[in-house]
Amino acid sequence: MSGMTRSRAPEAGIPTELTATYFSQRASAGLVVTGSVAVSPEASGYLWTEGIHSARQIAGWRRVTEAVHSAGGRIAVQLIHRGRVSHS
Ligand SMILES: Cc1cc2nc3c(=O)[nH]c(=O)nc-3n(C[C@H](O)[C@H](O)[C@H](O)COP(=O)(O)O)c2cc1C
Repeated sequence: MSGMTRSRAPEAGIPTELTATYFSQRASAGLVVTGSVAVSPEASGYLWTEGIHSARQIAGWRRVTEAVHSAGGRIAVQLIHRGRVSHS
């Protein structure tokens, strides 16, 4: 499954339980790629998109990866810095 930004992380770019459910429901795709995930607060380009630069975000992703692995899938993160269109 290719990366698709879903804008479902309203609190500080932290993946939620909904994120874990969404990706684990798609685990049968084999390899799931996350939507673009910001590498720093300045890297984000859209509201409510996930990051992977804080401890709480990383803990959220851990829940997501565990859910996908439990469902028999694999997951890879798509990292992004949106450069001049970024929006902190
Ligand atoms: C809602 C939506 C969000 C998307 N977000 C991303 C993204 O975050 N990163 C990315 O590389 N592609 C993104 N894409 C592009 C899809 O990955 C792309 O549609 C996919 O590669 C399939 O290619 P196709 O549309 O030419 O069939 C997004 C597409 C949609 C529809």
